[in-house]
Amino acid sequence: MAVSFIVLAAGVGSRMNSDTPKVLHHIAAAPLLHHALTAARALEPARIVVVTGHESAQVAKSAEDFDPAVECVLQDPQLGTAHAVSMAAPLLADASGEAIVLYGDTPFIRPETLEAMLHARARHSVVVLGFEAKDPGRYGRLVASGENLEKIVEYKDASDDERNITLCNSGVICASAKTMFQLIARIGNTNAAAEYYLTDIVEIARAQGLSAGVVICDEAETLGVNTRQQLAEAEAAFQSRARSEALENGVTLTAPETVFFALDTHIGRDAIIGPNVIFGTAVTIESGAEVKAFCHLEGCHISRGAVVGPFARLRPGAELAEDVHVGNFVEIKNAILDEGVKVGHLTYIGDADIGEFTNIGAGTVTCNYDGVMKHRTRIGKRAFIGSDTMLVAPVTIGNDALTASGSVITENVPDEALAVGRAKQVNKPGLATKLMARLKASKAAKGKS
Ligand code: UD1
Ligand code: CA
Repeated sequence: MAVSFIVLAAGVGSRMNSDTPKVLHHIAAAPLLHHALTAARALEPARIVVVTGHESAQVAKSAEDFDPAVECVLQDPQLGTAHAVSMAAPLLADASGEAIVLYGDTPFIRPETLEAMLHARARHSVVVLGFEAKDPGRYGRLVASGENLEKIVEYKDASDDERNITLCNSGVICASAKTMFQLIARIGNTNAAAEYYLTDIVEIARAQGLSAGVVICDEAETLGVNTRQQLAEAEAAFQSRARSEALENGVTLTAPETVFFALDTHIGRDAIIGPNVIFGTAVTIESGAEVKAFCHLEGCHISRGAVVGPFARLRPGAELAEDVHVGNFVEIKNAILDEGVKVGHLTYIGDADIGEFTNIGAGTVTCNYDGVMKHRTRIGKRAFIGSDTMLVAPVTIGNDALTASGSVITENVPDEALAVGRAKQVNKPGLATKLMARLKASKAAKGKS
């Protein structure tokens, strides 16, 4: 069954007190919008339409970054949630199958919950996602008996009796695309806020003899972000769930509460993650790899048997093959390290290819940037780069080659060659003692004057 999503993301989000549109604030290193889109994409939908309004260009750009197949439509002015959904009507007019409305600021709806709503569609024309609220506050209330939904009342318009209801509206609604747009076209704005309320869809459906039903999910799933406080709470909720999931999946976390995951972090079974490790987006770690304390990882892949850290930074494009060792104070960006490469200490590797079993000495730097352009360093297999080698790219070091410590390598090094690129050492007998005596005398003379 084809399903299309309409993701509402036009609102200002004024309570964030921010120049950034609300749905672009991050949790787990990804915009709130991407969390909602991730849940939608899990159902392999035919179409996803994001309704933008406030700062629409920025929001549309972020939607496209997530997936170029996501379509955007502008809602200006913003006259309410039903009005927002109706903006997608021209795009989805001939869409067959189901339509589901999500909010861009509600990041935790699970794909399984959306599936449950689709199943409930077998029994009801309109299906609303509800939750039992601990503190129902200003949520819309669901007037229901059992699974059958009579109507949704917005808090502002609710009677005292209705305000006592604790079953609340999450905002997520599902119907066939055809029914959804047919019903929405009939929604008016005669209410306390003079807005077009999507919630009116239930009463209008019932008036047409269609049935409406409610699917209930855990309140945690419906957590919406309206303030920075809620953003911080959402981050904490995400992290605690991600930590539990990692542990259940067989990952060792030495100090789980100090590890921060991204929305798309993937870690294999029997990997070990030490304390204070931070994941940016797009990190994959294979089974049995180890990341020691205080590492910062983003856009990288760590293979089986590799050991990273403590205190390492892997940036986008860092590809570590099996059994690679990356030690402390090492930064790696856009570089491929083949099997068994060792980069132990105090090193920057950027824009490089390093062949298998090569050893990179402490203090090595790939000088990849000339101030205008980036250049690549290529190092062969089983090479030995001496400590404090400056590799001035573009440059190629052959297989089994060796560079002397302290070398500045500006020319290619052939296979099996030893490259020495430094001044020859000269020893001047006795000169150290003479020099120190002269310096001390000069200091004493200054002290007198
Ligand atoms: C809405 C529901 C309420 C529910 C609550 C759950 C309605 C009328 N009310 O209320 O029953 O309990 O969500 O959080 O639907 N948006 C647009 N364009 C608009 C208006 C809103 O895109 O013209 C977007 C907002 O950016 C937001 C979402 O729709 O992502 C919800 O709008 P919001 O104004 O926050 O609705 P609530 O008053 O919270
Ligand atoms: Ca809201």
